[in-house]
Amino acid sequence: MAVQLLFPTRIYEARLSHAGWRGLNARLQRECRQMREDDLAGRRWSRRNYPGGYTSYGSAHRMHRLSPSFAALERILDRHVGKFARELEFDLDGRNLAMTDCWVNIMGQGAAHSLHLHPLSSISGTYYVAVPRGAPGLKFEDPRLERFMAAPPRSSRASRSNQPWVTLPAQAGQLLLFESWLRHEVAPQASAGERISISFNYSWF
Ligand code: NI
Repeated sequence: MAVQLLFPTRIYEARLSHAGWRGLNARLQRECRQMREDDLAGRRWSRRNYPGGYTSYGSAHRMHRLSPSFAALERILDRHVGKFARELEFDLDGRNLAMTDCWVNIMGQGAAHSLHLHPLSSISGTYYVAVPRGAPGLKFEDPRLERFMAAPPRSSRASRSNQPWVTLPAQAGQLLLFESWLRHEVAPQASAGERISISFNYSWF
């Protein structure tokens, strides 16, 4: 007998490893906090839409155009997105995957980010700037879930690839890439520190 494994869902993980990444990460961390200081509209938007946290998603969502540090991160991410596109065996027909949006998220204690996807984008991802001990990772949902209907639940001891939800832990200096249609969430931030991440979208031009 044979069991074929078809239609995989790929999630790309990597760490910034080039010389000087710690310096870049420290600059990004300072700029994320400074952005929160300066961005009155974003703080207002976050009070309504992101309780306990700050995001520049509604106010400054092209950070790679505003800051040389974010532009340096973009150049690094471009290479990783290129590798991921090759892994996915995309036929881009000579076109490019390019960053369209890039924004700051600072989650204080109690902040959460409910289940969502990133419509109108091709590849999305997150780079972790600061992750206090105990801060949540990123939880992904099986994209076939709404079709399962009468399918029995999976054993709690099922292998990770058979689980309907999988949380990948967060670590400073690490990045995750996934296809933008894949739903994900961040559980409530239980730790006392601030979990800082930079999220981004790439589209196909
Ligand atoms: Ni997201």
